[in-house]
Amino acid sequence: MSTTLLQLHEISQRFGKLHVLDQLTLSVHAGETLGLIGPNGAGKTSLLNIASGFSKPYAGKVLFKNQDITRLDPAQRARLGLMRSFQSSQIFPQHTIQHNLALALRACTSKAYTWLGRPGPLRDSLEQADDIVASSLFGGRNDVVAGTLSYGEQRLLDLLISVAQHPQMLLLDEPTAGLSKQEAADAMALLAGLHHQSTVVLVSHDLDLVFEHCDRIAVLNLGRLTAVDTPEAIRRHEGAQTAYLGGAE
Ligand SMILES: Nc1ncnc2c1ncn2[C@@H]1O[C@H](COP(=O)(O)OP(=O)(O)OP(=O)(O)O)[C@@H](O)[C@H]1O
Ligand SMILES: [Mg+2]
Repeated sequence: MSTTLLQLHEISQRFGKLHVLDQLTLSVHAGETLGLIGPNGAGKTSLLNIASGFSKPYAGKVLFKNQDITRLDPAQRARLGLMRSFQSSQIFPQHTIQHNLALALRACTSKAYTWLGRPGPLRDSLEQADDIVASSLFGGRNDVVAGTLSYGEQRLLDLLISVAQHPQMLLLDEPTAGLSKQEAADAMALLAGLHHQSTVVLVSHDLDLVFEHCDRIAVLNLGRLTAVDTPEAIRRHEGAQTAYLGGAE
């Protein structure tokens, strides 16, 4: 039987008179990659914001590992293992690829700060980062300054940094938007490297990618779930077809 890692329970969101999410309930199972699709304005980003703590719901509860985390902020949720990746947010453009990775790795260890409150030593994290870079698509490019990378490569580095931290759960909002076909394939290969050790929620308008890589797919339309099922079942689901073919690119 699958274990529920994240539960969004009767979530509603409103912006003034605009009802963006309407009593939405969704369970994400441990180890799965769940695709979240739907037309523009369906409420996908609003839902990820609520799951990650970047906004509070108008009503409803967010449970992670059976703990009510509705009132926790994003940093508190990250410490519990629930992480959200933003476009290039974790990258320091003036630092090298290796240094960027090492800083992120150090931040998620107990050595992040000394007892004097100063940043802890980076040496171990640099060694660890060296190994990760060597076996990644950035192999041999440890010393390249991140700010000189192309837009697509920066997004890939951001994803590598997220993946390298092995979060128990990773929420991704359109991680392949603006990437070339090859870069999008590289991004999915990075996610595949998690080998189901992390649970992933993937918001994307790239339906081919979602249908190929997700274990289940949730279809959102006008703030409500039209269907949550396996890719095969979603393909056959009439309501889901209408919802996502109605607006997604
Ligand atoms: N902070 C906000 N204030 C007011 N309205 C908002 C805010 N954030 C989102 N909305 C509105 O909520 C609705 C859902 O937006 P959301 O960004 O969640 O959709 P989405 O499914 O992520 O769309 P897209 O596929 O275009 O990214 C839209 O009508 C949007 O204009
Ligand atoms: Mg969005």
